[in-house]
Amino acid sequence: MRTNVGIVGAGPAGLLLSHLLARAGIDSVVLEARSREYVENRIRAGVLEHPVAQLLADSGVGARMQREGLPHEGVVLRADGVDHRIDFAALTGKHVMVYSQHKVVQDLIAARLAAGGQIVFEAEDVAVHDVETDAPVVTYRHEGQARRLDCAIIAGADGFHGICREAIPAAHRQSFHREYPFGWLGILAEAPPASEELVYASHDRGFALLSMRSPTVSRLYLQCAPDEDLEAWSDARIWDELHLRLGRDGFTLREGPIVQKGITPMRSFVVQPMQRGRLFLLGDAAHIVPPTGAKGLNLAVADVAVLSGALERHFRRGESAGLEAYGATCLRRVWQAQRFSWWMTSLLHRFPAHTPFEREVQRAELAHVFASRAMSTALAEAYVGLPLVMPG
Ligand code: APR
Ligand code: PHB
Repeated sequence: MRTNVGIVGAGPAGLLLSHLLARAGIDSVVLEARSREYVENRIRAGVLEHPVAQLLADSGVGARMQREGLPHEGVVLRADGVDHRIDFAALTGKHVMVYSQHKVVQDLIAARLAAGGQIVFEAEDVAVHDVETDAPVVTYRHEGQARRLDCAIIAGADGFHGICREAIPAAHRQSFHREYPFGWLGILAEAPPASEELVYASHDRGFALLSMRSPTVSRLYLQCAPDEDLEAWSDARIWDELHLRLGRDGFTLREGPIVQKGITPMRSFVVQPMQRGRLFLLGDAAHIVPPTGAKGLNLAVADVAVLSGALERHFRRGESAGLEAYGATCLRRVWQAQRFSWWMTSLLHRFPAHTPFEREVQRAELAHVFASRAMSTALAEAYVGLPLVMPG
Protein backbone atom coordinates (compact mmCIF):
# COMPACT_ATOMS: atom_id res chain seq x y z
CA MET A 1 0.00 0.00 0.00
CA ARG A 2 1.22 3.56 -0.65
CA THR A 3 0.19 6.87 0.93
CA ASN A 4 1.48 10.40 1.39
CA VAL A 5 1.52 10.28 5.20
CA GLY A 6 1.75 7.12 7.29
CA ILE A 7 0.36 7.89 10.76
CA VAL A 8 1.20 5.57 13.67
CA GLY A 9 -1.43 5.84 16.40
CA ALA A 10 -5.19 6.53 16.41
CA GLY A 11 -5.32 8.72 19.47
CA PRO A 12 -6.40 12.36 19.25
CA ALA A 13 -3.12 13.40 17.59
CA GLY A 14 -3.07 10.79 14.82
CA LEU A 15 -6.77 11.00 14.08
CA LEU A 16 -6.94 14.80 13.97
CA LEU A 17 -3.87 14.92 11.74
CA SER A 18 -5.48 12.46 9.33
CA HIS A 19 -8.68 14.51 9.38
CA LEU A 20 -6.98 17.86 8.67
CA LEU A 21 -4.79 16.32 5.94
CA ALA A 22 -7.88 14.86 4.26
CA ARG A 23 -9.52 18.32 4.27
CA ALA A 24 -6.39 19.57 2.47
CA GLY A 25 -6.61 16.74 -0.06
CA ILE A 26 -3.61 14.89 1.34
CA ASP A 27 -3.88 11.12 1.63
CA SER A 28 -2.92 9.31 4.86
CA VAL A 29 -3.27 5.89 6.48
CA VAL A 30 -3.57 5.48 10.27
CA LEU A 31 -2.14 2.34 11.87
CA GLU A 32 -3.47 1.60 15.38
CA ALA A 33 -2.35 -1.26 17.61
CA ARG A 34 -5.60 -1.47 19.59
CA SER A 35 -9.16 -2.22 18.55
CA ARG A 36 -11.62 0.51 17.62
CA GLU A 37 -13.71 -0.37 20.67
CA TYR A 38 -10.69 0.04 22.96
CA VAL A 39 -9.55 3.43 21.72
CA GLU A 40 -13.11 4.79 21.63
CA ASN A 41 -13.71 3.94 25.28
CA ARG A 42 -10.37 4.87 26.84
CA ILE A 43 -11.27 7.33 29.65
CA ARG A 44 -8.80 10.22 29.67
CA ALA A 45 -8.96 13.97 30.27
CA GLY A 46 -11.85 16.27 29.59
CA VAL A 47 -10.88 19.94 29.14
CA LEU A 48 -10.47 21.49 25.68
CA GLU A 49 -8.65 24.81 25.45
CA HIS A 50 -10.43 27.63 23.63
CA PRO A 51 -8.35 27.37 20.40
CA VAL A 52 -8.67 23.56 20.43
CA ALA A 53 -12.47 23.64 20.64
CA GLN A 54 -12.42 26.28 17.92
CA LEU A 55 -10.25 24.10 15.64
CA LEU A 56 -12.52 21.07 16.09
CA ALA A 57 -15.57 23.19 15.27
CA ASP A 58 -13.91 24.95 12.32
CA SER A 59 -12.72 21.66 10.82
CA GLY A 60 -16.18 20.09 10.92
CA VAL A 61 -15.86 17.65 13.82
CA GLY A 62 -17.31 19.80 16.59
CA ALA A 63 -21.05 19.19 16.24
CA ARG A 64 -21.43 16.78 19.20
CA MET A 65 -18.96 18.82 21.25
CA GLN A 66 -21.15 21.88 20.71
CA ARG A 67 -24.27 19.86 21.66
CA GLU A 68 -22.91 17.96 24.63
CA GLY A 69 -19.83 19.92 25.72
CA LEU A 70 -19.97 22.21 28.78
CA PRO A 71 -18.53 25.72 28.23
CA HIS A 72 -16.75 26.82 31.41
CA GLU A 73 -15.87 30.48 32.10
CA GLY A 74 -13.76 29.85 35.17
CA VAL A 75 -12.33 27.41 37.69
CA VAL A 76 -12.21 27.44 41.47
CA LEU A 77 -9.01 27.05 43.47
CA ARG A 78 -9.85 25.90 47.01
CA ALA A 79 -7.13 26.43 49.60
CA ASP A 80 -7.64 25.41 53.21
CA GLY A 81 -11.42 25.36 52.67
CA VAL A 82 -11.65 28.84 51.12
CA ASP A 83 -12.62 29.31 47.45
CA HIS A 84 -10.99 31.64 44.94
CA ARG A 85 -12.48 31.75 41.44
CA ILE A 86 -10.28 32.37 38.41
CA ASP A 87 -12.62 34.19 36.03
CA PHE A 88 -11.46 33.24 32.52
CA ALA A 89 -14.12 35.37 30.81
CA ALA A 90 -13.29 38.54 32.75
CA LEU A 91 -9.51 38.04 32.59
CA THR A 92 -9.13 36.72 29.01
CA GLY A 93 -12.51 36.99 27.26
CA LYS A 94 -12.32 33.25 26.59
CA HIS A 95 -13.68 30.01 28.02
CA VAL A 96 -12.75 26.31 27.91
CA MET A 97 -14.95 23.39 26.85
CA VAL A 98 -15.41 20.41 29.16
CA TYR A 99 -15.81 17.47 26.76
CA SER A 100 -14.40 13.97 27.16
CA GLN A 101 -11.31 13.04 25.18
CA HIS A 102 -12.79 9.65 24.29
CA LYS A 103 -15.70 11.49 22.66
CA VAL A 104 -13.21 13.55 20.61
CA VAL A 105 -11.69 10.24 19.48
CA GLN A 106 -15.13 8.81 18.63
CA ASP A 107 -16.04 11.95 16.67
CA LEU A 108 -12.76 11.87 14.71
CA ILE A 109 -13.02 8.15 13.88
CA ALA A 110 -16.61 8.62 12.70
CA ALA A 111 -15.57 11.56 10.53
CA ARG A 112 -12.61 9.73 9.01
CA LEU A 113 -14.58 6.58 8.21
CA ALA A 114 -17.48 8.60 6.79
CA ALA A 115 -14.99 10.35 4.51
CA GLY A 116 -13.53 7.03 3.39
CA GLY A 117 -10.41 7.47 5.53
CA GLN A 118 -8.17 4.48 6.14
CA ILE A 119 -7.66 3.43 9.78
CA VAL A 120 -6.13 -0.01 10.33
CA PHE A 121 -7.10 -1.16 13.82
CA GLU A 122 -5.31 -4.01 15.58
CA ALA A 123 -2.16 -3.47 13.53
CA GLU A 124 0.58 -5.57 15.08
CA ASP A 125 4.38 -5.29 15.15
CA VAL A 126 4.34 -1.82 13.63
CA ALA A 127 7.86 -0.69 12.74
CA VAL A 128 9.22 2.34 10.89
CA HIS A 129 12.13 2.14 8.46
CA ASP A 130 14.36 4.41 6.31
CA VAL A 131 13.10 7.58 7.97
CA GLU A 132 16.28 9.39 6.84
CA THR A 133 15.58 8.64 3.18
CA ASP A 134 12.91 10.16 0.93
CA ALA A 135 11.11 6.80 0.86
CA PRO A 136 10.31 5.82 4.45
CA VAL A 137 8.33 2.64 5.09
CA VAL A 138 6.06 1.34 7.84
CA THR A 139 5.76 -2.41 8.19
CA TYR A 140 3.13 -4.20 10.29
CA ARG A 141 1.05 -7.33 10.54
CA HIS A 142 -2.72 -7.32 10.14
CA GLU A 143 -5.09 -10.29 10.20
CA GLY A 144 -2.07 -12.56 10.19
CA GLN A 145 -0.58 -11.00 7.06
CA ALA A 146 2.69 -9.08 6.80
CA ARG A 147 1.96 -5.61 5.35
CA ARG A 148 4.01 -2.69 4.04
CA LEU A 149 3.07 0.99 3.79
CA ASP A 150 5.26 3.12 1.52
CA CYS A 151 5.06 6.79 2.52
CA ALA A 152 6.54 10.19 1.83
CA ILE A 153 6.19 11.19 5.49
CA ILE A 154 5.72 9.25 8.77
CA ALA A 155 3.85 10.87 11.67
CA GLY A 156 4.69 9.26 15.02
CA ALA A 157 1.50 9.75 17.04
CA ASP A 158 1.83 6.56 19.04
CA GLY A 159 1.95 8.00 22.54
CA PHE A 160 4.49 7.82 25.33
CA HIS A 161 4.84 4.04 25.10
CA GLY A 162 4.97 3.89 21.31
CA ILE A 163 7.83 2.88 19.01
CA CYS A 164 8.35 5.99 16.88
CA ARG A 165 10.39 8.05 19.34
CA GLU A 166 12.98 5.27 19.45
CA ALA A 167 13.37 5.56 15.67
CA ILE A 168 15.37 8.72 16.37
CA PRO A 169 18.81 7.38 17.33
CA ALA A 170 19.60 7.96 21.01
CA ALA A 171 22.73 9.87 20.01
CA HIS A 172 20.54 12.36 18.14
CA ARG A 173 17.88 13.00 20.73
CA GLN A 174 17.77 14.57 24.20
CA SER A 175 15.09 13.76 26.78
CA PHE A 176 13.99 15.99 29.65
CA HIS A 177 12.32 14.25 32.60
CA ARG A 178 10.69 15.08 35.90
CA GLU A 179 9.02 12.39 38.00
CA TYR A 180 6.66 13.55 40.77
CA PRO A 181 6.49 11.86 44.20
CA PHE A 182 2.75 11.20 43.80
CA GLY A 183 0.06 10.07 41.36
CA TRP A 184 -3.66 10.66 40.95
CA LEU A 185 -6.38 8.19 41.86
CA GLY A 186 -9.21 9.04 39.46
CA ILE A 187 -12.86 7.95 39.47
CA LEU A 188 -15.82 8.33 37.17
CA ALA A 189 -19.02 8.38 39.24
CA GLU A 190 -22.71 8.49 38.41
CA ALA A 191 -23.17 11.45 40.71
CA PRO A 192 -24.23 15.01 39.83
CA PRO A 193 -21.18 17.28 40.09
CA ALA A 194 -21.32 19.25 43.35
CA SER A 195 -19.99 22.35 41.58
CA GLU A 196 -20.82 23.90 38.21
CA GLU A 197 -17.12 24.59 37.64
CA LEU A 198 -13.96 22.55 38.26
CA VAL A 199 -12.59 22.75 41.81
CA TYR A 200 -8.83 22.31 42.35
CA ALA A 201 -8.35 21.76 46.11
CA SER A 202 -5.05 22.22 47.94
CA HIS A 203 -5.35 20.49 51.33
CA ASP A 204 -2.93 19.35 54.03
CA ARG A 205 -4.00 15.74 53.31
CA GLY A 206 -3.23 16.18 49.62
CA PHE A 207 -4.59 17.55 46.34
CA ALA A 208 -8.10 16.76 45.06
CA LEU A 209 -9.92 17.79 41.88
CA LEU A 210 -13.64 17.88 41.16
CA SER A 211 -14.35 17.75 37.45
CA MET A 212 -17.27 16.46 35.46
CA ARG A 213 -18.42 14.86 32.20
CA SER A 214 -22.10 15.85 32.23
CA PRO A 215 -24.77 17.18 34.67
CA THR A 216 -25.05 13.62 36.02
CA VAL A 217 -21.47 12.28 35.80
CA SER A 218 -18.62 13.46 38.03
CA ARG A 219 -14.91 12.99 37.36
CA LEU A 220 -12.90 13.21 40.59
CA TYR A 221 -9.24 12.77 41.44
CA LEU A 222 -7.19 12.65 44.64
CA GLN A 223 -3.45 12.77 45.08
CA CYS A 224 -2.01 9.40 46.10
CA ALA A 225 1.34 7.63 46.35
CA PRO A 226 2.97 7.04 42.94
CA ASP A 227 2.82 3.27 43.52
CA GLU A 228 -0.61 3.32 45.17
CA ASP A 229 -2.42 -0.03 45.35
CA LEU A 230 -5.87 0.62 43.88
CA GLU A 231 -7.17 -2.47 45.68
CA ALA A 232 -6.55 -0.67 48.99
CA TRP A 233 -9.11 1.98 48.03
CA SER A 234 -12.70 0.89 48.56
CA ASP A 235 -15.40 3.18 47.17
CA ALA A 236 -16.19 4.24 50.73
CA ARG A 237 -12.57 5.16 51.44
CA ILE A 238 -12.35 7.17 48.20
CA TRP A 239 -15.49 9.15 49.01
CA ASP A 240 -14.38 9.75 52.60
CA GLU A 241 -11.05 11.18 51.42
CA LEU A 242 -12.70 13.32 48.75
CA HIS A 243 -15.10 14.75 51.36
CA LEU A 244 -12.14 15.67 53.57
CA ARG A 245 -10.04 17.29 50.85
CA LEU A 246 -12.83 19.05 48.93
CA GLY A 247 -14.83 20.00 52.01
CA ARG A 248 -15.67 23.55 52.93
CA ASP A 249 -18.61 25.25 54.72
CA GLY A 250 -21.75 25.07 52.61
CA PHE A 251 -20.35 22.54 50.13
CA THR A 252 -21.80 19.01 49.84
CA LEU A 253 -20.01 16.50 47.64
CA ARG A 254 -22.62 14.14 46.19
CA GLU A 255 -21.76 10.43 46.06
CA GLY A 256 -22.89 7.83 43.53
CA PRO A 257 -21.86 4.53 41.94
CA ILE A 258 -18.21 4.55 40.86
CA VAL A 259 -18.14 3.15 37.31
CA GLN A 260 -14.40 3.50 36.63
CA LYS A 261 -11.31 4.01 38.75
CA GLY A 262 -7.58 4.08 38.02
CA ILE A 263 -4.20 5.46 39.02
CA THR A 264 -2.48 8.08 36.81
CA PRO A 265 1.29 8.49 37.19
CA MET A 266 2.61 12.04 37.21
CA ARG A 267 5.54 12.95 35.00
CA SER A 268 6.91 15.73 32.84
CA PHE A 269 8.71 14.64 29.70
CA VAL A 270 9.99 16.23 26.50
CA VAL A 271 12.11 14.78 23.71
CA GLN A 272 14.10 17.07 21.40
CA PRO A 273 14.18 17.20 18.45
CA MET A 274 10.64 16.14 17.60
CA GLN A 275 11.67 15.05 14.12
CA ARG A 276 14.31 13.09 12.19
CA GLY A 277 14.36 12.99 8.39
CA ARG A 278 10.83 12.18 7.23
CA LEU A 279 9.66 11.15 10.75
CA PHE A 280 7.71 13.72 12.81
CA LEU A 281 6.68 13.03 16.41
CA LEU A 282 3.51 14.56 17.80
CA GLY A 283 1.47 14.43 21.00
CA ASP A 284 2.39 12.11 23.83
CA ALA A 285 5.06 10.48 21.65
CA ALA A 286 7.05 13.69 22.09
CA HIS A 287 5.93 15.09 25.45
CA ILE A 288 4.02 14.30 28.63
CA VAL A 289 2.67 16.77 31.18
CA PRO A 290 1.24 16.15 34.66
CA PRO A 291 -2.57 16.42 34.25
CA THR A 292 -2.93 19.31 36.70
CA GLY A 293 -2.97 21.88 33.90
CA ALA A 294 -5.23 19.79 31.60
CA LYS A 295 -2.70 20.24 28.79
CA GLY A 296 -2.05 16.73 27.39
CA LEU A 297 -4.73 16.58 24.71
CA ASN A 298 -4.42 20.30 23.96
CA LEU A 299 -0.67 20.07 23.35
CA ALA A 300 -1.26 17.14 20.98
CA VAL A 301 -3.72 19.26 19.00
CA ALA A 302 -1.25 22.15 18.84
CA ASP A 303 1.38 19.81 17.33
CA VAL A 304 -1.22 18.69 14.77
CA ALA A 305 -2.00 22.29 13.85
CA VAL A 306 1.68 22.96 13.15
CA LEU A 307 2.36 19.70 11.30
CA SER A 308 -0.80 19.73 9.16
CA GLY A 309 -0.05 23.28 7.99
CA ALA A 310 3.56 22.42 7.18
CA LEU A 311 2.53 19.26 5.32
CA GLU A 312 -0.08 21.14 3.30
CA ARG A 313 2.54 23.67 2.18
CA HIS A 314 4.94 20.81 1.44
CA PHE A 315 2.61 18.70 -0.69
CA ARG A 316 0.82 21.60 -2.39
CA ARG A 317 3.70 24.00 -3.00
CA GLY A 318 6.83 21.92 -2.48
CA GLU A 319 7.84 24.09 0.47
CA SER A 320 10.03 22.50 3.15
CA ALA A 321 10.60 25.41 5.56
CA GLY A 322 7.58 24.54 7.71
CA LEU A 323 8.66 20.92 8.03
CA GLU A 324 12.24 21.88 8.82
CA ALA A 325 11.02 24.23 11.56
CA TYR A 326 8.31 21.84 12.85
CA GLY A 327 9.93 20.75 16.10
CA ALA A 328 11.22 24.19 17.02
CA THR A 329 7.80 25.70 16.37
CA CYS A 330 6.03 23.07 18.52
CA LEU A 331 8.56 23.24 21.34
CA ARG A 332 7.94 26.96 21.93
CA ARG A 333 4.41 25.99 23.02
CA VAL A 334 5.39 22.65 24.56
CA TRP A 335 7.73 24.30 27.04
CA GLN A 336 5.11 26.94 27.94
CA ALA A 337 2.66 24.12 28.71
CA GLN A 338 5.35 22.19 30.59
CA ARG A 339 6.07 25.22 32.75
CA PHE A 340 2.41 25.83 33.51
CA SER A 341 1.69 22.16 34.25
CA TRP A 342 4.73 21.91 36.51
CA TRP A 343 3.76 25.17 38.27
CA MET A 344 0.11 24.15 38.87
CA THR A 345 1.32 20.76 40.16
CA SER A 346 3.93 22.31 42.45
CA LEU A 347 1.43 24.88 43.72
CA LEU A 348 -1.40 22.51 44.67
CA HIS A 349 0.09 19.18 45.75
CA ARG A 350 1.65 18.04 49.03
CA PHE A 351 5.29 17.05 48.56
CA PRO A 352 6.49 14.50 51.15
CA ALA A 353 9.96 16.08 51.21
CA HIS A 354 8.64 19.60 51.74
CA THR A 355 9.87 21.36 54.89
CA PRO A 356 7.42 23.55 56.88
CA PHE A 357 9.09 26.53 55.22
CA GLU A 358 8.33 25.18 51.73
CA ARG A 359 4.74 24.45 52.71
CA GLU A 360 4.31 28.07 53.87
CA VAL A 361 5.89 29.34 50.65
CA GLN A 362 3.31 27.25 48.74
CA ARG A 363 0.53 28.86 50.77
CA ALA A 364 2.00 32.30 50.12
CA GLU A 365 2.18 31.68 46.36
CA LEU A 366 -1.48 30.62 46.31
CA ALA A 367 -2.39 33.74 48.30
CA HIS A 368 -0.42 35.82 45.77
CA VAL A 369 -2.43 34.29 42.88
CA PHE A 370 -5.67 35.09 44.68
CA ALA A 371 -4.67 38.65 45.54
CA SER A 372 -3.04 39.64 42.26
CA ARG A 373 -5.04 40.28 39.09
CA ALA A 374 -1.78 39.92 37.16
CA MET A 375 -1.09 36.46 38.63
CA SER A 376 -4.70 35.34 38.13
CA THR A 377 -4.57 36.63 34.55
CA ALA A 378 -1.37 34.69 33.86
CA LEU A 379 -3.00 31.52 35.17
CA ALA A 380 -6.17 32.15 33.15
CA GLU A 381 -4.24 32.84 29.92
CA ALA A 382 -2.28 29.60 30.27
CA TYR A 383 -5.37 27.58 31.18
CA VAL A 384 -7.65 28.76 28.33
CA GLY A 385 -4.80 28.18 25.89
CA LEU A 386 -2.06 30.04 24.04
CA PRO A 387 -2.30 30.34 20.23
CA LEU A 388 -1.97 26.86 18.69
CA VAL A 389 0.92 28.01 16.49
CA MET A 390 3.24 30.32 18.44
CA PRO A 391 5.31 32.69 16.29
CA GLY A 392 9.12 32.54 16.62
N1 APR B 1 1.62 0.72 16.85
C1 APR B 1 0.41 1.29 16.59
N2 APR B 1 -0.26 2.06 17.46
C2 APR B 1 0.32 2.28 18.65
C3 APR B 1 1.59 1.75 19.00
C4 APR B 1 2.24 0.94 18.04
N3 APR B 1 3.44 0.40 18.29
N4 APR B 1 1.89 2.15 20.27
C5 APR B 1 0.86 2.92 20.69
N5 APR B 1 -0.08 2.99 19.73
C6 APR B 1 -1.35 3.73 19.78
C7 APR B 1 -2.05 3.63 21.12
O1 APR B 1 -2.84 2.45 21.20
C8 APR B 1 -2.91 4.89 21.11
O2 APR B 1 -4.19 4.64 20.60
O3 APR B 1 -1.08 5.10 19.62
C9 APR B 1 -2.14 5.85 20.21
C10 APR B 1 -1.55 7.01 20.97
O4 APR B 1 -2.64 7.80 21.48
P1 APR B 1 -2.50 8.66 22.85
O5 APR B 1 -1.70 7.88 23.82
O6 APR B 1 -3.88 9.09 23.23
O7 APR B 1 -1.61 9.91 22.44
P2 APR B 1 -1.97 11.22 21.62
O8 APR B 1 -2.79 10.91 20.42
O9 APR B 1 -0.70 11.93 21.50
O10 APR B 1 -2.95 12.05 22.58
C11 APR B 1 -2.48 12.63 23.75
O11 APR B 1 -3.92 11.28 25.02
O12 APR B 1 -2.87 9.89 26.50
C12 APR B 1 -3.61 11.02 26.40
O13 APR B 1 -3.07 12.40 28.24
C13 APR B 1 -2.83 12.19 26.89
O14 APR B 1 -4.60 13.67 26.62
C14 APR B 1 -3.37 13.27 26.05
C15 APR B 1 -3.62 12.61 24.72
C1 PHB C 1 -10.70 15.87 33.79
O1 PHB C 1 -11.87 16.30 33.71
O2 PHB C 1 -10.41 14.67 33.55
C2 PHB C 1 -9.59 16.82 34.15
C3 PHB C 1 -9.88 18.18 34.26
C4 PHB C 1 -8.87 19.08 34.60
C5 PHB C 1 -7.59 18.60 34.84
C6 PHB C 1 -7.30 17.22 34.71
C7 PHB C 1 -8.31 16.34 34.37
O3 PHB C 1 -6.60 19.47 35.19
